[in-house]
Amino acid sequence: MNNTVEQLKVRYEQALSAAFGDEYAKIDPLLEKASNPKFGDYQSNIALSLAKRLGQQPRKIAEQIIRELDVVNICETPQVAGAGFINLTLLSSYLETELKSAYIDLRLGIAKAKTPKRVVIDFSSPNIAKEMHVGHLRSTIIGDSIARVLEFQGHNVLRLNHVGDWGTQFGMLITQLREAESVNDYDLLDLGELVEFYREAKKRFDDDAEFRERSRKAVVDLQSGDIEAKLAWEFLCAISQKEFRTIYKQLDVKFDEVRGESFYKDDLSKVVEDLDKAGLLVEDGGAKCVFLDGFTNKEGDPLPLIVQKSDGGYNYATTDLAAVRYRIEQDKANRLIYVTDAGQANHFAQVFQVARRAGWLPGNIEINHVPFGLVQGEDGKKLKTRSGETVKLIDLLNEAIVRARADLETRLKAEDRQETEDFIANAAQVVGISAVKYADLSQNRTSNYIFSYDRMLALQGNTAPYMLYAYARIQGISRKGEVDFEQLGDSVDILLQHETELTLAKHLLQLDDVINAVEQDLFPNRLCEYLFQLSQKFNQFYDRDRGVPVLNAEEPLRTSRLVLCNLTARTLKLGLSLLGIQVLDRM
Ligand code: ARG
Repeated sequence: MNNTVEQLKVRYEQALSAAFGDEYAKIDPLLEKASNPKFGDYQSNIALSLAKRLGQQPRKIAEQIIRELDVVNICETPQVAGAGFINLTLLSSYLETELKSAYIDLRLGIAKAKTPKRVVIDFSSPNIAKEMHVGHLRSTIIGDSIARVLEFQGHNVLRLNHVGDWGTQFGMLITQLREAESVNDYDLLDLGELVEFYREAKKRFDDDAEFRERSRKAVVDLQSGDIEAKLAWEFLCAISQKEFRTIYKQLDVKFDEVRGESFYKDDLSKVVEDLDKAGLLVEDGGAKCVFLDGFTNKEGDPLPLIVQKSDGGYNYATTDLAAVRYRIEQDKANRLIYVTDAGQANHFAQVFQVARRAGWLPGNIEINHVPFGLVQGEDGKKLKTRSGETVKLIDLLNEAIVRARADLETRLKAEDRQETEDFIANAAQVVGISAVKYADLSQNRTSNYIFSYDRMLALQGNTAPYMLYAYARIQGISRKGEVDFEQLGDSVDILLQHETELTLAKHLLQLDDVINAVEQDLFPNRLCEYLFQLSQKFNQFYDRDRGVPVLNAEEPLRTSRLVLCNLTARTLKLGLSLLGIQVLDRM
């Protein structure tokens, strides 16, 4: 168990109750990592926040707390500073013991969640017969990383791809397919042609009233289970899915189920019926809807969430309402996560509200919309190819690999290194894909970001290549010294003396906190930031001037430092794996 913060919180709990009585025990000690080493490692301003309630000076309160605060084997004597802050500095002996237990544990001492949850995560979710765009790429990368973190913590995660495979657009697609000249051409269709086909169908739909009418009939056919319509629909889905799969394969992203919108089609009428029974349904201009709290139009009147259109059709929101119910009732979820662009924030807030008011979403179930910003081209506008077309995802990924390869070949040449084609191809693949993923994940997801190959592939800065390079460099130490990190044995002693060793050690032990933070607020950039700092702290430790010798150190320091190297490498590898990024032993 190396969650220092949690241990300290328990100690605070005991101290607070001893000092002021049981009713104070559960008060959050407001423990924060001190940003300035002068204030130790953790600082608490609980004494200040209790001043009013206790009617005493904060400093006096702080002194009462530290009198009771038993952190003997964890910290040096607690200090009161300034207006009444309590500062704690971790003992090196404590750090050494904790690192040792992390070292001998395959999970690096990171405990699994005490109460594993059933988590349903809805991510990627592109639309059939349409091109998968960069928004879907972000959802795929962010969603996959969140799923990996939760899985690592031992949660029971159901990864769902909620593809857009239902709706009135299939009427025009089926009609277009029915009326196409050569049926045999169909099996030549790939997604690119399908998108073109979609455009043609849409144009006819917009221009031609009779086509529109036939399309409406086709929707009815499909909904009533007409075999031929169903086959056409399945055919369209299959072409798209095949294309989506290529991208998932390239990204190494998996789903437990591709469970599209169509999955819920038979539950939609029941959603409307039950909303009616719950007394929430209102008819407004022929459409059935629920009026929302807190969503108003310009005039200040409440906005409706339409769940059945005046033509009787259901919509995106109806499906999401059905899905919330299904995921809670059938999948037994206690946490629901949706990863989409920020533009859908209102949609989800509205669906969640209606589900809650209808009684389908009990208060003990956590539900999170995980919004993200846009991906922009270097001109700050929507990402386009040089000739102005929308970028195909697969091209975008392949381009990253091609560029990673070019960078690598330049470097090999400069270093006069010979490598096999297998080595080059694999390294280019890993670096290229990692660069795209890392560039996305390292941003605060709520902001827009500019897609730049040059920046994401740079060896310097908060990038995948920098991180991968740090990892490979550590493996290089093991090669150079001919020490097998795995053979150092379990009975090693860790000794922390130098400033850079202590700094590195403290950082290593914070992975747990970071993972917990990602579990809570679903910001993978926290993990990126942590890993970036870890690489930097390692580089300081290993720096010829500022750091310490490793291979040339005397025993027992040599082994201790090799263990620190090994722990850093394993922490990087684990952290990167939670971002969906592989490491390379050499690059
Ligand atoms: N298909 C939708 C889109 O492309 C995303 C679906 C997100 N998930 C959901 N349950 N609504 O925008």
